[in-house]
Amino acid sequence: MISGGGTNLQAIIDGCADGRIDATVVFTGSDTPDVKGLDRAKKAGIDTFVVDYRKIIKKCRESPEEIKSSLPSDFDLVTVREKQSLMSDDHNPSQVDFFLQSRAVAEKMLLEKIEHYGIDLLVLAGFMRTLTPYFIDRINVDPNNKRIMNIHPALLPAFPGTDGYGDTFRYGCKVGGCTVHFIDYGEDTGPIIGQRAFQIEDGDTLDDVKKKGLALEWELYPACIQKFADNLLV
Ligand code: GRF
Repeated sequence: MISGGGTNLQAIIDGCADGRIDATVVFTGSDTPDVKGLDRAKKAGIDTFVVDYRKIIKKCRESPEEIKSSLPSDFDLVTVREKQSLMSDDHNPSQVDFFLQSRAVAEKMLLEKIEHYGIDLLVLAGFMRTLTPYFIDRINVDPNNKRIMNIHPALLPAFPGTDGYGDTFRYGCKVGGCTVHFIDYGEDTGPIIGQRAFQIEDGDTLDDVKKKGLALEWELYPACIQKFADNLLV
């Protein structure tokens, strides 16, 4: 699943084509329409779909009644812990409810699309949405077998969040890197599968850091997916 340019997706498609990855990309899903990653997938003959989060959020705002009727029946039960933690951060209660509800509607649509394919592994390649425990459990099926992988642009556990290379650069680090990990319920906290590091030289710009990092991501992600295919991650 992607949200943007899809250069990691491209590396995975290429890895499947040249034999570095013994697997097939069966679909590419995006939370945003018209992104370059979708074109890359189509060009490779891969099924694509969009679950347009922005549009869904807008629709939910316009017709709150419709939201309630679209929620999973166990919604209150599965969001109780998340709600407590968001409330303890002093968020506005009605905004918390709206956030949780609109995201549940979007995820329900995502699950309908994904489950149709019967996949072994769900690969997040620049997918910029957080996934709920409900969604994660539905994909994993067996809680002891993690099946959602992510690539993060920093050496976790340093610099979780949405701007890993930016945070690494602004902190003044002399080493940056990328991490492939399984998803768990936390933010970029799941078990680490692989990491690559690079030197940040005096005079490097943020752009240099991103270029160095991405070049390593394109090697690391296919290698980690192949480890999964080889059953080495149990
Ligand atoms: C990558 O830097 C990845 O680490 C992060 O989002 C970016 C996606 O880039 N999660 P791309 O869409 O694969 O080009």
